[in-house]
Amino acid sequence: MLLTQDAANIAGSIDPAFRHDIVTGLSRSPKATPPIWFYDRRGSELFEAITDLPEYYPTRTETALLARHGADFAAAVGEGRAVVEFGAGSSRKTPHLLRAIAPAAYVPIDISGDFLHTSSAALAEAFPGLPVLPVVGDFNRPLALPTAIGGMPRLGFFPGSTIGNMEPDAAVDLLRAMRRLLGDGAKLLIGMDRIKDRDRLIAAYDDAQGVTAAFNMNLIERVNRELEGDLPIDGFAHRAIWNDEKARIEMHLEAQRALHFQVAGRSFHMDAGETIHTESSHKYGARDGRLLLRAGGWAPAAEWTDDDGLFALVLAEAG
Ligand code: AVI
Repeated sequence: MLLTQDAANIAGSIDPAFRHDIVTGLSRSPKATPPIWFYDRRGSELFEAITDLPEYYPTRTETALLARHGADFAAAVGEGRAVVEFGAGSSRKTPHLLRAIAPAAYVPIDISGDFLHTSSAALAEAFPGLPVLPVVGDFNRPLALPTAIGGMPRLGFFPGSTIGNMEPDAAVDLLRAMRRLLGDGAKLLIGMDRIKDRDRLIAAYDDAQGVTAAFNMNLIERVNRELEGDLPIDGFAHRAIWNDEKARIEMHLEAQRALHFQVAGRSFHMDAGETIHTESSHKYGARDGRLLLRAGGWAPAAEWTDDDGLFALVLAEAG
C-alpha cells in the first residue's frame, strides 16, 4: 500500500482530508489516526525498507507463495481473466501471478497516479501483449472498471495483508464492495497474515534497526511539515503492542513526558505515557479468515500457506 500523497507538499497548501483526519484523531480519546497518512514519499520509502527487514516475514513469505504455486493458481483460476489488483502492482509479487495464469487484461487500482503509472509502465514492458489498464482511484469508494474488460471474468488480487489494516467491519464492507465491483463469476486472491507467536509478531513491528520506529515517527514529521505542527520529535517513542483480544498488532506513538503542541492552529495536550494509536494490523486464523470472507460475500475455495503457517493466500469465489 504505497500511497504517495505528496500533493499538499508540492503545492505548499494544506490537504483538507489530512488535516481533518489528524485533528479529529488527536481530539479523540484515546487518540488515534488512520494509517493511510504514513505513506508520503518518505513513508513509502520506509515501508519498502520494512519489507526487506529480517524480522518482517510477510512480504517475503507471500512472494515465495506466489512464486511456488503458479501451477495451482492456473488450475484453480484458469486463463483469460481480467486481473483487478487493489493497490498499484508490486514489481515483486504481481509478475508471478500474471505469468502463472495468462490473464486477458490487468487493471491495477491505486490512489496515487504517479506511483500507479510507474508500476503499470514496468508491468506493460514485462508483459508485452497484455492490456494494462490502470485506474486512479480510492478502492474504498465506488469506482468503475474500464469498459475494455467488458464481459471478461475477473480475478481480484489483494496481496500484502492490507485487509489487516482495517477494522473488521470496514474489512467486510470493502470485501462486499469488491464483490459488487467484480461481479458474478469473479474470484478473489487475497493475502492474510496469520496469528502466531507473540514475540515474532512484535519483532516484525519493532525491528532491531529501528526502521519501523522511523516509519511511525515519520507521521509526526509529516504533521509538523504539512499541518503547521510543533510536536517535539524527542517527546515521542515508537511502541508495538500485541492486542490478544482483538488479534492485532497495534502501533502507537507514546508521549515520553507531558506534552503541549499545536496542529493546524489547534492546541493539544498529552499526559506522559499517553499514546496516539497510529495503526492496527489484524492477524487472522484460518477459520477467522474464512468467516471474514464469507461475511464479505466470498466463498473460500482454496488456501496456500508456507511450511511455518506464517502467511496465507486464500482464493475465494463470489458467493
Ligand atoms: C501495509 N501493511 C499491510 C503493513 C502491515 O504489516 O500491517 C504496514 C506496516 N506497518 C508496520 N510495518 C508494516
